[in-house]
Amino acid sequence: MGPETPPPDLGIPPERMPRHVAIIMDGNGRWARRRGLRRVLGHRTGSRTVRAVTRECARLGIERLTLYAFSSENWKRPKAEIDYLMKLLREYLVKERREIMENNIRFRAIGRLSELPPEVREDLDRTVEMSRDNTGLILTLALAYGGRAEIADAARRVAEKVREGVLLPEDVDEETIREHLYDPEMPDPDLLIRSAGEMRVSNYLLWQIAYSEFWVTEVFWPDFGVEHLHEALRDYARRERRFGGLKEEE
Ligand code: IPE
Ligand code: IPE
Ligand code: MG
Repeated sequence: MGPETPPPDLGIPPERMPRHVAIIMDGNGRWARRRGLRRVLGHRTGSRTVRAVTRECARLGIERLTLYAFSSENWKRPKAEIDYLMKLLREYLVKERREIMENNIRFRAIGRLSELPPEVREDLDRTVEMSRDNTGLILTLALAYGGRAEIADAARRVAEKVREGVLLPEDVDEETIREHLYDPEMPDPDLLIRSAGEMRVSNYLLWQIAYSEFWVTEVFWPDFGVEHLHEALRDYARRERRFGGLKEEE
Protein backbone atom coordinates (compact mmCIF):
# COMPACT_ATOMS: atom_id res chain seq x y z
CA MET A 1 0.00 0.00 0.00
CA GLY A 2 1.58 3.31 -1.04
CA PRO A 3 1.20 6.76 0.46
CA GLU A 4 -0.97 7.71 -2.54
CA THR A 5 -3.84 5.58 -1.17
CA PRO A 6 -6.51 7.96 0.18
CA PRO A 7 -7.04 7.68 3.93
CA PRO A 8 -10.14 5.75 4.96
CA ASP A 9 -13.02 7.89 6.03
CA LEU A 10 -12.70 7.95 9.78
CA GLY A 11 -15.27 10.69 9.87
CA ILE A 12 -12.73 13.00 11.51
CA PRO A 13 -12.33 16.54 10.21
CA PRO A 14 -8.63 17.22 9.47
CA GLU A 15 -8.37 19.91 12.17
CA ARG A 16 -9.51 17.35 14.76
CA MET A 17 -6.73 14.90 13.90
CA PRO A 18 -3.70 14.80 16.21
CA ARG A 19 -0.44 15.96 14.64
CA HIS A 20 1.68 13.96 17.03
CA VAL A 21 0.75 10.56 18.46
CA ALA A 22 2.92 8.98 21.16
CA ILE A 23 2.49 5.37 22.25
CA ILE A 24 3.55 3.39 25.32
CA MET A 25 3.67 -0.09 23.80
CA ASP A 26 2.99 -2.28 26.82
CA GLY A 27 1.80 -5.83 27.49
CA ASN A 28 4.06 -7.97 25.31
CA GLY A 29 5.07 -10.16 28.25
CA ARG A 30 1.52 -10.65 29.52
CA TRP A 31 0.30 -11.44 26.02
CA ALA A 32 2.86 -14.24 25.76
CA ARG A 33 2.29 -15.55 29.29
CA ARG A 34 -1.46 -15.83 28.70
CA ARG A 35 -0.63 -18.17 25.83
CA GLY A 36 1.89 -20.16 27.80
CA LEU A 37 4.68 -18.71 25.67
CA ARG A 38 7.97 -17.15 26.63
CA ARG A 39 7.88 -13.37 27.15
CA VAL A 40 10.26 -12.76 24.26
CA LEU A 41 7.71 -14.18 21.84
CA GLY A 42 5.45 -11.36 22.95
CA HIS A 43 8.13 -8.87 21.97
CA ARG A 44 8.52 -10.52 18.58
CA THR A 45 4.78 -10.43 17.93
CA GLY A 46 4.63 -6.85 19.21
CA SER A 47 7.10 -5.75 16.56
CA ARG A 48 4.49 -6.67 13.92
CA THR A 49 2.10 -4.24 15.59
CA VAL A 50 4.75 -1.54 15.24
CA ARG A 51 4.81 -2.10 11.51
CA ALA A 52 1.00 -2.00 11.11
CA VAL A 53 0.50 1.07 13.29
CA THR A 54 3.36 2.98 11.64
CA ARG A 55 2.03 2.25 8.18
CA GLU A 56 -1.45 3.38 9.15
CA CYS A 57 -0.20 6.62 10.72
CA ALA A 58 1.77 7.35 7.55
CA ARG A 59 -1.30 6.63 5.45
CA LEU A 60 -3.49 8.89 7.56
CA GLY A 61 -1.07 11.77 7.13
CA ILE A 62 -0.21 12.02 10.83
CA GLU A 63 2.99 14.07 11.16
CA ARG A 64 4.67 12.35 14.08
CA LEU A 65 4.59 8.98 15.77
CA THR A 66 6.80 8.47 18.82
CA LEU A 67 7.05 4.94 20.22
CA TYR A 68 8.36 3.94 23.63
CA ALA A 69 10.44 0.89 22.76
CA PHE A 70 12.91 0.61 25.65
CA SER A 71 12.97 2.67 28.84
CA SER A 72 15.96 3.58 30.97
CA GLU A 73 14.32 1.43 33.67
CA ASN A 74 14.09 -1.56 31.34
CA TRP A 75 17.85 -2.08 31.90
CA LYS A 76 16.71 -3.69 35.19
CA ARG A 77 15.29 -6.68 33.31
CA PRO A 78 17.14 -10.00 33.01
CA LYS A 79 20.08 -9.87 30.62
CA ALA A 80 18.56 -12.54 28.37
CA GLU A 81 15.45 -10.41 27.79
CA ILE A 82 17.50 -7.27 27.15
CA ASP A 83 19.73 -9.15 24.71
CA TYR A 84 16.67 -10.42 22.88
CA LEU A 85 15.16 -6.94 22.69
CA MET A 86 18.41 -5.57 21.27
CA LYS A 87 18.54 -8.37 18.72
CA LEU A 88 14.94 -7.72 17.75
CA LEU A 89 15.64 -4.02 17.43
CA ARG A 90 18.54 -4.65 15.05
CA GLU A 91 16.39 -7.01 13.02
CA TYR A 92 13.65 -4.42 12.87
CA LEU A 93 16.06 -1.66 11.83
CA VAL A 94 17.44 -3.68 8.96
CA LYS A 95 14.22 -5.33 7.77
CA GLU A 96 12.14 -2.16 8.02
CA ARG A 97 14.42 0.02 5.90
CA ARG A 98 12.53 -0.82 2.73
CA GLU A 99 9.16 -0.20 4.36
CA ILE A 100 10.47 3.10 5.79
CA MET A 101 11.69 4.27 2.39
CA GLU A 102 8.58 3.08 0.53
CA ASN A 103 6.36 4.96 2.95
CA ASN A 104 8.48 8.14 2.86
CA ILE A 105 9.09 7.89 6.62
CA ARG A 106 11.78 9.89 8.41
CA PHE A 107 13.23 7.70 11.12
CA ARG A 108 14.73 9.06 14.35
CA ALA A 109 15.62 7.95 17.86
CA ILE A 110 15.66 9.69 21.24
CA GLY A 111 17.13 8.56 24.56
CA ARG A 112 20.57 7.95 26.03
CA LEU A 113 21.57 6.28 22.80
CA SER A 114 25.20 6.04 23.89
CA GLU A 115 24.09 3.39 26.39
CA LEU A 116 22.99 1.07 23.58
CA PRO A 117 25.35 -1.64 22.28
CA PRO A 118 27.60 -0.22 19.52
CA GLU A 119 26.16 -2.51 16.83
CA VAL A 120 22.64 -1.30 17.62
CA ARG A 121 23.83 2.30 17.37
CA GLU A 122 25.37 1.61 14.00
CA ASP A 123 22.12 0.17 12.65
CA LEU A 124 20.23 3.09 14.14
CA ASP A 125 22.54 5.68 12.61
CA ARG A 126 22.30 4.05 9.23
CA THR A 127 18.51 4.02 9.23
CA VAL A 128 18.35 7.63 10.42
CA GLU A 129 20.85 8.71 7.77
CA MET A 130 19.15 6.81 4.98
CA SER A 131 15.71 8.28 5.68
CA ARG A 132 16.72 11.83 6.58
CA ASP A 133 15.43 13.42 3.34
CA ASN A 134 12.07 11.68 3.44
CA THR A 135 9.18 14.08 3.86
CA GLY A 136 6.37 11.99 5.36
CA LEU A 137 5.69 10.70 8.85
CA ILE A 138 8.47 11.27 11.39
CA LEU A 139 8.80 8.00 13.29
CA THR A 140 10.80 8.30 16.50
CA LEU A 141 11.77 5.37 18.69
CA ALA A 142 12.43 6.16 22.34
CA LEU A 143 15.33 3.89 23.31
CA ALA A 144 17.17 3.76 26.61
CA TYR A 145 14.80 6.64 27.20
CA GLY A 146 13.68 8.19 30.47
CA GLY A 147 11.78 11.45 30.80
CA ARG A 148 13.60 12.51 33.94
CA ALA A 149 16.96 11.66 32.41
CA GLU A 150 16.03 13.77 29.38
CA ILE A 151 15.22 16.78 31.55
CA ALA A 152 18.36 16.24 33.65
CA ASP A 153 20.49 15.97 30.50
CA ALA A 154 18.93 19.19 29.20
CA ALA A 155 19.58 20.95 32.51
CA ARG A 156 23.21 19.87 32.45
CA ARG A 157 23.76 21.24 28.96
CA VAL A 158 22.08 24.51 29.92
CA ALA A 159 24.31 24.72 33.01
CA GLU A 160 27.39 24.18 30.83
CA LYS A 161 26.36 27.08 28.60
CA VAL A 162 25.85 29.28 31.64
CA ARG A 163 29.31 28.35 32.88
CA GLU A 164 30.79 29.15 29.46
CA GLY A 165 29.03 32.49 29.58
CA VAL A 166 26.95 31.96 26.43
CA LEU A 167 23.73 31.95 28.44
CA LEU A 168 22.63 34.07 31.40
CA PRO A 169 20.78 32.37 34.28
CA GLU A 170 17.98 34.94 34.06
CA ASP A 171 17.43 34.02 30.42
CA VAL A 172 16.74 30.36 31.19
CA ASP A 173 13.05 29.70 30.60
CA GLU A 174 10.80 26.88 29.36
CA GLU A 175 11.89 27.47 25.79
CA THR A 176 15.54 27.05 26.82
CA ILE A 177 14.79 23.66 28.35
CA ARG A 178 12.85 22.58 25.29
CA GLU A 179 15.72 23.58 23.00
CA HIS A 180 17.98 21.20 24.93
CA LEU A 181 15.74 18.14 24.88
CA TYR A 182 16.87 15.15 22.76
CA ASP A 183 14.81 16.34 19.78
CA PRO A 184 14.23 20.08 20.10
CA GLU A 185 12.01 20.09 17.02
CA MET A 186 9.57 17.58 18.46
CA PRO A 187 6.17 19.18 19.09
CA ASP A 188 4.30 18.01 22.19
CA PRO A 189 2.25 14.85 21.61
CA ASP A 190 -1.43 15.64 21.15
CA LEU A 191 -2.46 12.10 21.93
CA LEU A 192 -0.72 9.60 24.22
CA ILE A 193 -1.87 6.00 23.82
CA ARG A 194 -1.03 3.20 26.26
CA SER A 195 -1.82 -0.45 25.66
CA ALA A 196 -2.28 -3.13 28.35
CA GLY A 197 -4.32 -1.06 30.75
CA GLU A 198 -1.86 0.56 33.17
CA MET A 199 -2.83 4.07 34.22
CA ARG A 200 0.67 5.48 34.43
CA VAL A 201 3.21 7.25 32.25
CA SER A 202 6.27 5.19 33.25
CA ASN A 203 8.72 8.06 32.77
CA TYR A 204 7.70 8.74 29.16
CA LEU A 205 8.10 12.20 27.59
CA LEU A 206 7.50 13.90 30.94
CA TRP A 207 8.24 17.38 29.66
CA GLN A 208 6.28 17.01 26.44
CA ILE A 209 3.05 15.44 27.72
CA ALA A 210 2.03 18.35 29.97
CA TYR A 211 -1.22 18.77 28.02
CA SER A 212 -1.42 15.57 25.98
CA GLU A 213 -4.71 13.69 25.86
CA PHE A 214 -4.35 10.25 27.41
CA TRP A 215 -6.04 7.16 25.92
CA VAL A 216 -5.63 3.73 27.50
CA THR A 217 -6.82 0.38 26.21
CA GLU A 218 -6.81 -2.98 27.98
CA VAL A 219 -5.60 -4.62 24.78
CA PHE A 220 -2.04 -6.01 24.93
CA TRP A 221 0.37 -4.53 22.40
CA PRO A 222 0.64 -7.65 20.19
CA ASP A 223 -3.17 -7.59 19.82
CA PHE A 224 -3.32 -3.85 19.21
CA GLY A 225 -4.56 -3.22 15.70
CA VAL A 226 -5.39 -0.47 13.29
CA GLU A 227 -8.97 -0.61 14.62
CA HIS A 228 -7.72 0.37 18.10
CA LEU A 229 -5.74 3.23 16.63
CA HIS A 230 -8.88 4.41 14.85
CA GLU A 231 -10.85 4.18 18.08
CA ALA A 232 -8.26 6.32 19.86
CA LEU A 233 -8.29 8.88 17.04
CA ARG A 234 -12.09 9.11 17.04
CA ASP A 235 -12.10 9.50 20.78
CA TYR A 236 -9.43 12.18 20.60
CA ALA A 237 -11.41 14.06 17.96
CA ARG A 238 -14.36 14.34 20.37
CA ARG A 239 -12.32 15.77 23.22
CA GLU A 240 -12.24 19.39 24.16
CA ARG A 241 -8.73 20.63 24.83
CA ARG A 242 -8.52 23.70 27.02
CA PHE A 243 -4.89 24.09 28.01
CA GLY A 244 -6.05 25.66 31.25
CA GLY A 245 -8.28 28.24 29.54
CA LEU A 246 -11.99 28.35 28.83
CA LYS A 247 -14.07 27.53 25.79
CA GLU A 248 -14.26 30.48 23.37
CA GLU A 249 -17.97 31.11 23.95
CA GLU A 250 -17.60 31.23 27.75
C1 IPE B 1 6.37 -3.75 26.66
O1 IPE B 1 5.95 -5.00 27.09
C2 IPE B 1 7.70 -3.82 25.94
C3 IPE B 1 8.84 -3.29 26.71
C4 IPE B 1 8.75 -2.70 27.86
C5 IPE B 1 10.15 -3.45 26.12
P1 IPE B 1 6.37 -5.58 28.50
O2 IPE B 1 7.59 -6.42 28.33
O3 IPE B 1 6.48 -4.51 29.50
O4 IPE B 1 5.12 -6.51 28.82
P2 IPE B 1 4.40 -6.70 30.20
O5 IPE B 1 4.05 -5.33 30.72
O6 IPE B 1 5.36 -7.42 31.09
O7 IPE B 1 3.19 -7.48 29.88
C1 IPE C 1 6.96 1.17 29.68
O1 IPE C 1 6.54 -0.12 29.95
C2 IPE C 1 8.21 1.11 28.81
C3 IPE C 1 7.99 0.71 27.44
C4 IPE C 1 6.84 0.49 26.90
C5 IPE C 1 9.19 0.59 26.63
P1 IPE C 1 7.02 -0.89 31.27
O2 IPE C 1 6.40 -2.22 31.22
O3 IPE C 1 8.51 -0.85 31.37
O4 IPE C 1 6.42 0.03 32.40
P2 IPE C 1 5.97 -0.35 33.87
O5 IPE C 1 7.11 -1.08 34.51
O6 IPE C 1 4.76 -1.20 33.76
O7 IPE C 1 5.66 0.95 34.52
MG1 MG D 1 5.19 -3.69 30.82
